[in-house]
Amino acid sequence: MISRSTALALTAVLGLPLLAVAGSSAAAPGPCGSVSARPWCDRDLPPDRRAGLLLKAMTLDEKIGLMAGDDALGPLNTDKDPGAHEGTVDGIPRLGVPTVLMAGGGPAGIRQGPGTALPAPIALGAGFSAADAARYGRLVGDEGRRKGNDIVLGPALDILRIPNAGRGYESYGEDPYLTGRLGASWIKAAQKQGVLAMVKHYPANNQETDRYQVNAIVDPRTMQEIYLPPFEAAVRNGRAAAVMCGYNKVNGKPSCANGTFLGTVLRGSWGFRGFVASDWLAGAKNTVASVRGGLDVEMPVGLIYGKDQLNQALREKKITSRQIDKRVRAYLRTLFAHGVFDRARYRDRPQTINVAANDRTAQAIAENGITLLKNKGVLPLKPGASVAVIGSSASDYISGAGSSRVTPRKPVTALQGITARATGPVSYSDGSSLTAAAAAARRADVAVVVVSDAREEAEDLKCISLRCGAPDREDQDALIRGVAAANRNTVVVLQTGGPVLTPWRSRVAGLVQAWYPGERGGTAIARVLYGDAEPGGRLPVTFPVANAKAAKSGTVRYSERLQVGYRRYNARRLPVAYPFGHGLSYTTFGYSRLKVSGNRVQVTVTNTGRRAGSAVPQLYLTFPRSAGEPPRQLKGFTKVMLKPGRSKRVTFVLDKRSFSIWKNGWKAVGGCHTVEVGSSSRHLPLSGRLCR
Ligand code: BGC
Repeated sequence: MISRSTALALTAVLGLPLLAVAGSSAAAPGPCGSVSARPWCDRDLPPDRRAGLLLKAMTLDEKIGLMAGDDALGPLNTDKDPGAHEGTVDGIPRLGVPTVLMAGGGPAGIRQGPGTALPAPIALGAGFSAADAARYGRLVGDEGRRKGNDIVLGPALDILRIPNAGRGYESYGEDPYLTGRLGASWIKAAQKQGVLAMVKHYPANNQETDRYQVNAIVDPRTMQEIYLPPFEAAVRNGRAAAVMCGYNKVNGKPSCANGTFLGTVLRGSWGFRGFVASDWLAGAKNTVASVRGGLDVEMPVGLIYGKDQLNQALREKKITSRQIDKRVRAYLRTLFAHGVFDRARYRDRPQTINVAANDRTAQAIAENGITLLKNKGVLPLKPGASVAVIGSSASDYISGAGSSRVTPRKPVTALQGITARATGPVSYSDGSSLTAAAAAARRADVAVVVVSDAREEAEDLKCISLRCGAPDREDQDALIRGVAAANRNTVVVLQTGGPVLTPWRSRVAGLVQAWYPGERGGTAIARVLYGDAEPGGRLPVTFPVANAKAAKSGTVRYSERLQVGYRRYNARRLPVAYPFGHGLSYTTFGYSRLKVSGNRVQVTVTNTGRRAGSAVPQLYLTFPRSAGEPPRQLKGFTKVMLKPGRSKRVTFVLDKRSFSIWKNGWKAVGGCHTVEVGSSSRHLPLSGRLCR
């Protein structure tokens, strides 16, 4: 058997997670130091006890030093500089406290110079697959560690509340259950790689307009039922080590000073034992309220948690040294609990990253999220068909902008992907001339118009038509219309970070939503168009028929309450372009034999077509009317691959929470509920009653 110290050295050299050797407790001092000189280095003691012992040995200055990050410049360079970290909290060598490094870009990959640029989180949302979320989280954790980080700043579990949300592409869509399932799975997998996940932006951070000041007014029931469940799942099921509070205010108080959410809910009800860090630069707003409210670490540097501010607050007796200890304890405890004190620091060894494997994962996740919205027999493309690729977006790498944008190593554009895969002639017209584009379309068997929007952090879209979602590009709506008039076999490929208006949808033969598909997006798009891969996605967000009002500044009342996304469209029976959960396959599926027994629901899914493909059976629950809930809420989903003619019996188990509503606490609703199962929130062929 190898000794613990050899194992530690090996894990450091090989870049493996420490977890593989945790548990073997030999006497040799670890990186923390000797137990006799530093009793908190005793790995056999529980994390709280170790934190307590360490706190006793610390000076006030040392404690205050851990309450804020120490690198203001790193975050400015992470897109280009492989050596820059998004966050750094210096350690205390005297006491064996390690320096902690944080990687940016968390929700969509590691932003630290070029890296694996994964499909945007919204594409993962469209995958409806907890297994894919685990692959995604595993990759981010692995790459983060191999680039020398202890913490990754993701995932982002804010609900896509407004269709034009600038950061909508970083979300998993508009449903709390889907978001929570994927988020927890992502976090577990990332943390298994030996890094800590920092889930963000807690809570109710749903718009970019006025993002540093906006005050979201959310009633308790809406908060608990719509905006908090993803975070609750991240903490309870995913065991997230850290939480990032958002820039915004909630019900009048800054998120990073909000005792209700940081204290009562997060640490109280959910039993969170990790630490809370502020969003970068403007998250923390007020020294005293943040210390009292539950913010442990200000990032990326101490503006309100600087030495002067904290000492002054202590002098003026507005905060106590016990409160300081509480904050520092949360941070230290987390590092102890996750083995950060007891392992060699991760070295920045990007050369150990399995780039080829990560490229394949990025591509697979893109394919699994590509969502086929419409297909009038045009797809998959026929072998040998001549294709006119049209639109400036086809020859660009399309992604969202902001802190989660990862610089791709070798991106594949849609044009490159299609050209490489095609078996017939391919022409390209960049869309700057409608006449030229229409002429190219006329000459080809099929026209593929590639269009995109431009979502970014710090700004919401003015509206969600292509015209105003990507004002710097050609008039993409006009382009689609013109091309569709020239060639009836027109396929539109959307690369957008959220919903988009599709007023031309009846004129095109095919409509494919590829989201921001990441570095291998072009290959994934081509494989789906040619039928090498199936379109695996389903909409995690409703595609509306009209624009919503632009986001407001100042006070924003969440007056729609529970009627967020598809809940609203269904409650009010409003028309949509494509409903939540929708996505076609290259085969067809039948749903039969619904059986409800107790809280178990079973259905049979059959591949009734001629190709293999994945079905995504979805279970929606409608509460008894008296509960005052919107109808048809997603409470279960799964993804099953079926060969032609094959069936599978699928079981959904509904837990007590599925039937519960928030009324000053979770209350299970009795009476008869309607259970519906099918392929989208508006296609539910099976229906039964579940009485409790
Ligand atoms: C974003 C966070 C991000 C941080 C550091 C902020 O602007 O809101 O999501 O983690 O920057 O990259």
